[in-house]
Amino acid sequence: MLSIQEVSKHFGGITAIKDVSFSIEQGKIVGLVGPNGAGKSTLLNVISGVYLPSSGSIIFDGLDITDLSPDKVCKHGIAKTFQLVQSFPELTAIQNVLVGAVFGNSDKIGMLEAREKAEKNLEFIGYPMNKMNYPVKNLTVVELKRIQLARALATEPKLLLLDEVTTGLNPKESNDAISLIQKIRESGITILIVEHVMKVIMNVSDNIVVLHHGEKIAEGTPYEIANDEKVITSYLGKKIDA
Ligand SMILES: Nc1ncnc2c1ncn2[C@@H]1O[C@H](COP(=O)(O)OP(=O)(O)O)[C@@H](O)[C@H]1O
Ligand SMILES: [Mg+2]
Repeated sequence: MLSIQEVSKHFGGITAIKDVSFSIEQGKIVGLVGPNGAGKSTLLNVISGVYLPSSGSIIFDGLDITDLSPDKVCKHGIAKTFQLVQSFPELTAIQNVLVGAVFGNSDKIGMLEAREKAEKNLEFIGYPMNKMNYPVKNLTVVELKRIQLARALATEPKLLLLDEVTTGLNPKESNDAISLIQKIRESGITILIVEHVMKVIMNVSDNIVVLHHGEKIAEGTPYEIANDEKVITSYLGKKIDA
């Protein structure tokens, strides 16, 4: 479904990603891990059109999306959440999700239908519906993360890019997030997830790609990654159970 081909991204003298290639099959959950500064967020931003890559190409559903702007990438069926939550603070919870429903994947949608879609997605992610009309500036970070996820889902993506959705969650919230990610996949959406909580990644991923200093150093099943010498020395620090 998605093919990332020798993608590099430089910021001035900094090489954030270097010659990274991998692909994602439809229906899978692929985990993207690596130390802080490894280039994970940059790669998601390059795929979603926030940044143009310095070189390389990105093919989605047979279409070259390398040079497309974020709104065009979204129209083709890729949605993303941001590591640092982005929202429209003055709008209400439901209005924030409506933005996704109206400007997303579907062609010309009526306001009634958009509202139904927004409500459906808020319910799906488990948002307390009695707070539907709260301005989001009054919400907690956890609630904001949910709103952001509902907004991404309301665009009706085929591929969802998640950047550290469970960071800052307590163990119970983190488990809920794992169930939610699995529920999203069961609804037919392919997922590329960046996460540094290894328990989450090991639990949900079919395949894992490891970045280190902007380069892919390993790729494989959770079991293979947990036993990969290079990954253990440069990232995990010690062997973990998988
Ligand atoms: N907009 C930017 N301008 C300059 N440097 C950036 C920018 N975004 C990321 N970087 C740099 O690129 C590298 C990778 O960052 P990032 O992709 O955020 O890593 P990760 O998400 O894996 O922690 C870091 O050295 C970071 O400082
Ligand atoms: Mg990041």
